Amino acid sequence: MSAKSTSAIKSGQQTKSEKQSQSTASPGGSDKIKDDRASGLDHYGLDMGTSRVVRAQMRGGDPSFQTQLNAFVVLPNAKMNRTMLDRESISYTVDGNDILAFGNRVEEFANLLGGDTRRPMRNGLLNPGEPRNIDMITRTVKALCGPARKGQRICFSVPSAPEDGDSAVLFHEKAISHVLEEMGYEVRAINEGQAVVLAELVAHDFTGIGISFGGGMCNVCVSYLGLPAVTFATTRAGDFIDYSAASVVGETPVGARLYKESGLFDLSSRSGSSLDQALAIYYREVIQTVALTLERVMKTSKRLPRFRKPVPVVFSGGSALARGFGQELETAIGRVRLPFEVGEVQMAESGLNATAKGCLVAAMLDN
Ligand SMILES: Nc1ncnc2c1ncn2[C@@H]1O[C@H](COP(=O)(O)OP(=O)(O)O)[C@@H](O)[C@H]1O
Ligand SMILES: [Mg+2]
Repeated sequence: MSAKSTSAIKSGQQTKSEKQSQSTASPGGSDKIKDDRASGLDHYGLDMGTSRVVRAQMRGGDPSFQTQLNAFVVLPNAKMNRTMLDRESISYTVDGNDILAFGNRVEEFANLLGGDTRRPMRNGLLNPGEPRNIDMITRTVKALCGPARKGQRICFSVPSAPEDGDSAVLFHEKAISHVLEEMGYEVRAINEGQAVVLAELVAHDFTGIGISFGGGMCNVCVSYLGLPAVTFATTRAGDFIDYSAASVVGETPVGARLYKESGLFDLSSRSGSSLDQALAIYYREVIQTVALTLERVMKTSKRLPRFRKPVPVVFSGGSALARGFGQELETAIGRVRLPFEVGEVQMAESGLNATAKGCLVAAMLDN
């Protein structure tokens, strides 16, 4: 990454007053951001997650975020169903004989009906088993972003190709790009792990390891001065925990997920119900898989830069919210052999929004 673009990222992450004072001192990227804002253009960062889609945008000098669950439920188009959805204030649209219910409360609703939600994406990519995949993604993205204004840019996150499975990453990237281009945006894609680095490691000159622990995947980027030296993904993530734990204790996946997210689950606790124990076992499996894959990939990588300082690790994503997660990750990384010293292991400051924020930084930098 050039010094010019690095300075632009840095200014993109600072407060309004810092940015204004820098824009005269640094005529490179900083001016560019100022120009875009002055011309009324607001670019978007878009985290296209399996579980949630998050839009980031600059508002008054700080990034602001809006989220939509990436799931839906189909019901027959009957008056009774429409009345129930209206009463529960759940968003829906009618499509012929179907009602498509979606939005942030759709999981609760699916649980109420004793079923699971349908998912447009799976394991980080468009779900090949869901006939409405692109249709529903289009509705979600339109609801979040609306049509583009002239020259408006959007940068969205794409996962790395997982090692264990044939990759449909290219198709996924092109299909999402097409949806956004049809809406009028100038579109760019960036790797999800790299987005976490851009969002969080400004103080380390974008050198370190960014990890996003999502629903469908864990995405990892080893970055040197903002350049992704190594990226990879694993497909054991939040959904794997839900489905595996549910299947061994006779729960529904959505029930396991709601409990996992309730705040009652604690990864560091050695006791609890059979669901607590099952969730903990599969959680550790997710963390171990990332640490062991990192060890293996680092051992064989020919592109590894020479780090001069301990390498910080920053982690983000919904699955990292469980109590005790950070400690468990730090222990797992401490146990594997890496060809460099690991520095601090820290939760992303922008938490669940790190990927979207990193995408926004990239969108603001684009030419
Ligand atoms: N408070 C929480 N505790 C544990 N897991 C959570 C919590 N909130 C969300 N999750 C899990 O995080 C995952 C979604 O993370 P997210 O970063 O939104 O994923 P994605 O990038 O796949 O959209 C899901 O598996 C969800 O169950
Ligand atoms: Mg994600």
